[in-house]
Amino acid sequence: MTAAPKTSSAGTRLGSGLFARLAGLAAPLLAIGMLMTNCTSHEAQNNDPQAIVARTIDDHSWARPQEARVTHVDLDLTADFNKKILSGAATLTLATEANAKQVILDTKALDIQSVTDAAGAPLKYTLGKGNEMMGKPLTIELPQGAQTVVVHYATQEGGTALQWLDPSQTAGKKLPFLFSQGEEINTRSWIPTQDSPAIRQTYTARIVVPSNLVAVMSAERLTPKGEPVEGHPSQRAFRFDMKQPIAPYLIAIAIGDIGFKSEGPDTGVYAERAILDKAAYEFADMQSMLDAASKLYGPYQWGRYDVLVLPPSFPFGGMENPTLTFATPTVIAGDRSLVSLVAHELAHSWSGNLVTNATWEDFWLNEGFTVYFENRIMEQVYGKDRADMLKVLGWQDLQATLKDLDDAKQPEFTKLHPDLNGVDPDDYFSDVPYEKGAAFLRMLEAHFGRKKLDAYLKGYFHRYAFQSMTTDAFVVDLRENLLHNDADLEKSLKIHQWLYDKGLPDNAVAPTSALLDQVKGQAVAFMNGAAPADLQTQDWSPLQFQYFLTQLPDTLTVDQMAALDKAYGFTASHNDEILSNWLLLAVKHHYQPAMPVLHDFLISVGRMKYVTPLYKALMAQAGWGPEMARSIYAEAEPGYHEITRASIAKVLPQ
Ligand code: BES
Ligand code: ZN
Repeated sequence: MTAAPKTSSAGTRLGSGLFARLAGLAAPLLAIGMLMTNCTSHEAQNNDPQAIVARTIDDHSWARPQEARVTHVDLDLTADFNKKILSGAATLTLATEANAKQVILDTKALDIQSVTDAAGAPLKYTLGKGNEMMGKPLTIELPQGAQTVVVHYATQEGGTALQWLDPSQTAGKKLPFLFSQGEEINTRSWIPTQDSPAIRQTYTARIVVPSNLVAVMSAERLTPKGEPVEGHPSQRAFRFDMKQPIAPYLIAIAIGDIGFKSEGPDTGVYAERAILDKAAYEFADMQSMLDAASKLYGPYQWGRYDVLVLPPSFPFGGMENPTLTFATPTVIAGDRSLVSLVAHELAHSWSGNLVTNATWEDFWLNEGFTVYFENRIMEQVYGKDRADMLKVLGWQDLQATLKDLDDAKQPEFTKLHPDLNGVDPDDYFSDVPYEKGAAFLRMLEAHFGRKKLDAYLKGYFHRYAFQSMTTDAFVVDLRENLLHNDADLEKSLKIHQWLYDKGLPDNAVAPTSALLDQVKGQAVAFMNGAAPADLQTQDWSPLQFQYFLTQLPDTLTVDQMAALDKAYGFTASHNDEILSNWLLLAVKHHYQPAMPVLHDFLISVGRMKYVTPLYKALMAQAGWGPEMARSIYAEAEPGYHEITRASIAKVLPQ
């Protein structure tokens, strides 16, 4: 516990403007009310879920929200593509404890120029030493009763959230591009705020850009065409409004030669104009997915749902920025075969954005729920066969990851609720929170049936809408609303073991897929000498080919690879999921004909899921691999995002 709040005066200290903002939102008021009282001995006994969340400490933020908490961020920023910086002001609205003397913000790689009150009078501040992972605490002295602080600042090159792309790194090749990636703890490197997922904030923004570029954000887009900037004819401004309180990692921005195409009444695609038509074709099912998702777990709470396709250096597959999912162009296969990624990011509109992990130790509450939900959407929209295949592929990844973590002697990272104190949350990133988390919900589904589990999940999203959640608080809720306080049942389902212990409990249900079993049979036949022409692959979908590649054993020869390549054209595949798996085999078996494609792939794509394993595989090829890895990396590195560089650094020692 950091500070002991003294009185419960939240109601009287909330300014009228703030009060109006919160009036329609019971949750933040409740949270503030709780933070004012939760340290009394009476409250310390309180075991209702919200009380548990309110007293949980986030080890990855310097903030002390019990004392002073950011409730709203208003940004006024200008993008300078020559200097590669954003600069301007962040005006923060605070909810403070009665005698609050200071507010502590998170910052990382920011130039803090000055801090003032609402009237422009300077406020005293200090930038602490901090550390490499968490950045530096910015402590601002608060005059009695202050509810607003204004931080004037600029970003620095080398921050972890922003990537500034030269025109050559874009699809259009003519104009530059900028995008942000907040999750997990990067927002502090472009916005000085309290960067903890339990400190929900609304935001507004005015973003000034060169007049040939468009700015979009994870918020309602108030000025789709931009508006003039007085005295600056070569610039225009875009304004945004996020009225729902969100975790700061979900504040996101992109600027570029961005166009828009509608997909349905509430859905559409943003992309560089050069690829807009292709992107719109790929995501044609967005509206059906949105409708299916709302039917499953309750109304969509965010107004519109759009996807923004980014340039290929985007380090992730997708990022669930509210109202505007950010996506890698590697999902544009041309045949809509990789759109489960959209189902995934859309599902986060409930699991993650509506009900949010309160700390990064509760990450599985975001990702495990989302993988489960994603698969339900896929089943609804594309049928059980496709959903089953996706489940099996995920399960297979989980088995491999658990084995790797075991070999690496990292049992802590096989837990759904790991201890991450002093650990970079990025280091915990793996299939465990995703697939073990989903397996936990599937175990509950197997026991209770879909009807009961769905009712529970729908209720959960409703009960904790616009709140943050911890694993401990979830257990209390689960007990009350699904287990009905049946302690024997809780024990027999091994709930505690699932959530707090390492490995996979033995009541996990292994998924099956008849379509993939058939593929497995064909892989065996091939390895036993059948020619590709004799294999029954005629009606295979991309997922089946993807699985086929995972079924080829280490004894695969270069001649066999050549035969497969000739029959199926893997080296020329437009499906990056298939291509990256094929390239892994090419590295492992030193299949030369794929090497030029490997080079081009690593130079152009920055998606970590693909590139990090390829560098790792190269490093394992004594004799030729490490040299090739280093030479390709030297060429590719300037184009990679800071996050991708950090990830490759782990497998490519200096
Ligand atoms: N929220 C994640 C991305 C993320 C996780 C960013 C942790 C930073 C830290 C997103 O929803 C996600 O899981 N993306 C996946 C795709 C998905 C289909 C599994 C990805 O990027 O590969
Ligand atoms: Zn996710």
